[in-house]
Amino acid sequence: MRFHVLTLFPEMILNGMSESIIGRAIKNEYISLNVVNIRDYSDNKHMKVDDYPYGGGAGMVMQAPPVVAAYESIVDNMNLDVTKKKPRVVYMTPQGSVFNQDMAQDFAKEEDLIFLCGHYEGIDERALEMIVTDHVSIGDYVLTGGELPAMVVMDCVSRLVPNVLNNEESAMFESFYDGLLEHPQYTRPVEFRGKRVPDVLLSGNHKKIEEWRKEKSLERTRERRPDLLEKKEKEKKENGNS
Ligand code: ADE
Repeated sequence: MRFHVLTLFPEMILNGMSESIIGRAIKNEYISLNVVNIRDYSDNKHMKVDDYPYGGGAGMVMQAPPVVAAYESIVDNMNLDVTKKKPRVVYMTPQGSVFNQDMAQDFAKEEDLIFLCGHYEGIDERALEMIVTDHVSIGDYVLTGGELPAMVVMDCVSRLVPNVLNNEESAMFESFYDGLLEHPQYTRPVEFRGKRVPDVLLSGNHKKIEEWRKEKSLERTRERRPDLLEKKEKEKKENGNS
């Protein structure tokens, strides 16, 4: 997987992607990260990349020429026949479809993913019309820019790239895979400030432990994410009828 990021704040991306599992995956070349500073493509002597909105209103709008030129610099280096396949360009915006695990699976099939991070009041619509293939939000709240959202998506997609997680790590994060939240986990000590690990986990009875975990999974999902249970029920019904 090759990630490319168009941003005005390259250090934010480089720093955020340099640690932990993602940092290791880049070092081991299971994923790559190419960060392009949109400001380097300004044709203005002050390297300005934004201007006042036509029609008036508050804030500034990122101009189309540097955004499109920065995008073209990436595509030029890709040796892609763009008449056949346009690269996937994901614009991070609160006006996009809300990101989920299914979208991550879909993105993980690509060899290259380009992320476009906006700031200010947004980006000139003409640039978006020319290059963007997917509008993606990470939730119904507004952040100061698209860099954190792009890193959220890249982190989630990276986990699905072969070899990025080792065996232990892949087994570790199972939430969402069977549509339920994961059961609670405990480790030593057996007692901490008067709170004991549930006896069943110390019993060595694997059948009982499995039953307990399943029950806790259901209980937790019912309490915290009843919408997931409804979705599972609906899918079951649909599959049963087809
Ligand atoms: N940019 C600002 N807020 C955002 C959000 N919630 N999702 C994606 N991009 C954003």
